[in-house]
Amino acid sequence: MDTPHPRLDVRNLVRRIDGRAVVDDLSLEIAPGHVTCLLGPSGCGKSTTLRMIAGVDRQDQGQIYVDGDLICDTVFRVPPERRAIGLMFQDFALFPHLSVGANVGFGLSGSGAEKRARAEVLLDRVGLGHFVDAYPHQLSGGEQQRVALARALAPRPRIMLMDEPFSGLDNRLRDGIRDETLALLKEEGTSVLLVTHEPEEAMRMADEIALMRDGRIVQRGAPYNIYNAPADKAAVAFFSDVNVLRGRVRGALVDTPFGQFLAPGVADGTEVEIVFRPQHVGIDFDRAGRGPNPTERAGTPARGVVERSRFMGSESLVEFRMDFDGGPLRATVPNVFLPKPGTPLWLTVRRDRCFVFPAEA
Ligand SMILES: Nc1ncnc2c1ncn2[C@@H]1O[C@H](COP(=O)(O)OP(=O)(O)O)[C@@H](O)[C@H]1O
Ligand SMILES: [Mg+2]
Repeated sequence: MDTPHPRLDVRNLVRRIDGRAVVDDLSLEIAPGHVTCLLGPSGCGKSTTLRMIAGVDRQDQGQIYVDGDLICDTVFRVPPERRAIGLMFQDFALFPHLSVGANVGFGLSGSGAEKRARAEVLLDRVGLGHFVDAYPHQLSGGEQQRVALARALAPRPRIMLMDEPFSGLDNRLRDGIRDETLALLKEEGTSVLLVTHEPEEAMRMADEIALMRDGRIVQRGAPYNIYNAPADKAAVAFFSDVNVLRGRVRGALVDTPFGQFLAPGVADGTEVEIVFRPQHVGIDFDRAGRGPNPTERAGTPARGVVERSRFMGSESLVEFRMDFDGGPLRATVPNVFLPKPGTPLWLTVRRDRCFVFPAEA
């Protein structure tokens, strides 16, 4: 039986610039109708990857397939306009001298009436049907963005490549436009590769996140898995603040001021880092110099003194200086909790939310 091909299949892509591999053996597949977010810090090679898939840049190694058909390797190339790939960038430029309807119909073949009909359908879908004869300068930034989306979808691309498409919008508009865009792309059944450096955006949009660093994909998975089973310390830190404890493994255990942590399968003598997020730190009041009793789940409490408390809206961030090493530790607490600087409190660490990695030099 034939296994269905991925809609997009990128194999071992390499792009060298000035002798440096800015994209370094990158592979990914996207199933029909799925949304993958290429997530990584600025400069890690996201846009370069997208440009090669679009066909406006050439790879030094690797192949790209769409629905099982080769669209380019280092010799053969389908030109960009024949790849059935739509593009949307932050600096989408509408043609200022063309009406909104003409902008959307611009890349289509067929008669004027046919182009206008398709443009009207798509403008209706993005809630802008009444603007078909308006000009871009009469629209707000968010409306222009929706026109750009309608234009990119008009030729019915099989794949949509989006490069930080929402970063030019103000926060108030962004969530709504993201959700509308996603709904429309899902309705059309378009596969999407969305580039972003914002973890919240990736988690909101993606079926799968491909976490990228230094030209490579370091981890792929559903947002839940990337967040809860990160590949390394940097993968934890990309999504939130982190706290780090250092220790040495002895008999698959690490001793710390917060009690023992399990380090299964790690060789004796290995230096490890125990990494945890601020929301997994428990806080207890000081009862005359004594903390709560140790438990299996929370381990042993360690004392710290509040340095600073900040209200963040839905949560509070409390920064501590720990008695055991004088080092900092951060905890977030839902709602309002703003202890004064100098207050001693007892902290515990959720065992089931810690990640143990070999220490980085
Ligand atoms: N045309 C170019 N000339 C020189 N360096 C480039 C060029 N394009 C990209 N780079 C470099 O390649 C790296 C990856 O760039 P890019 O793909 O734009 O990253 P991202 O989109 O993840 O921010 C960066 O270090 C960037 O400076
Ligand atoms: Mg970029």
